Amino acid sequence: MGRLDGRVALITGGASGLGAEDARVMAREGARVVLTDVQQDQGEKVAAEIPGAIYLRHDVSSETDWQKVVAHVVGLYGHIDILVNNAGLVRFGTIEEMSFADYKLQIDVMLDSTFLGCKYVIPHMPHDGKGSIINMASIGGIKGISAIPAYAAAKGGIIAMTRSIAIHCREQGYHIRVNSIAPGGIVTPMTAQAVAALDVEDPGLKQNRDHGMGQPADIANMVLYLASDEGRHITGTNIVIDNGETIG
Ligand SMILES: NC(=O)c1ccc[n+]([C@@H]2O[C@H](COP(=O)([O-])OP(=O)(O)OC[C@H]3O[C@@H](n4cnc5c(N)ncnc54)[C@H](O)[C@@H]3O)[C@@H](O)[C@H]2O)c1
Repeated sequence: MGRLDGRVALITGGASGLGAEDARVMAREGARVVLTDVQQDQGEKVAAEIPGAIYLRHDVSSETDWQKVVAHVVGLYGHIDILVNNAGLVRFGTIEEMSFADYKLQIDVMLDSTFLGCKYVIPHMPHDGKGSIINMASIGGIKGISAIPAYAAAKGGIIAMTRSIAIHCREQGYHIRVNSIAPGGIVTPMTAQAVAALDVEDPGLKQNRDHGMGQPADIANMVLYLASDEGRHITGTNIVIDNGETIG
């Protein structure tokens, strides 16, 4: 028996890093995984390695794409049990350096997409306790990091929106749980990009070095826990996984 036997899981940003690991872990536990991403070749490659998984091209900042993807998955499986709003990107620059376009890009791809994902998937989630939404935040949404003000704003917004959506689901009696996870530094292509882009003395990088980098499985195991019945008493919360970085 797998912990997610027969459940349908939609994971955004599933072609790489944390999303790809979430897909592997959830499929191992019996979920029917749909991974979506803008990276088509990479998404198809990851899906081909996971039994039963499918890849769909999906720009999470597009409302039309969300409508199409949700309709496609519901057409295939009838419903969606688990939604992982994981897709993301980062652009570096202080408030004085960053363009408004880069600010908006990060808000679109992370905060707006989380709004759209929850909005379009909740109507297709079951009300039997299997519905679980996991929104990928970051410790950048909790503590200040001067090099990523827009990323931090998007992630802080995700944490706040998660709580409000969780309350909505409870008020409606949906039995859908809604949580966010705030990782610290985890080894993925995104953090490799950060190491390449930032000065080695950047305070954000120094913090990561001081606390050590985690592995994608450190996050995927929590995603699995929240998605499974083991997380049945957890909703509206933000789970920090950062080896103590935010406590000093
Ligand atoms: N790696 C870390 O240390 C870390 C820390 C905190 C939070 N996070 C968050 O975890 C999530 C996954 O990050 P990762 O480290 O695996 O990065 P990653 O770059 O390996 O993966 C992100 C994926 O999102 C996809 N994506 C980007 N824009 C998209 C769009 N418009 N539509 C659909 N897909 C899009 C990318 O193609 C990529 O496959 C992100 O939300 C990130 O902010 C990561």
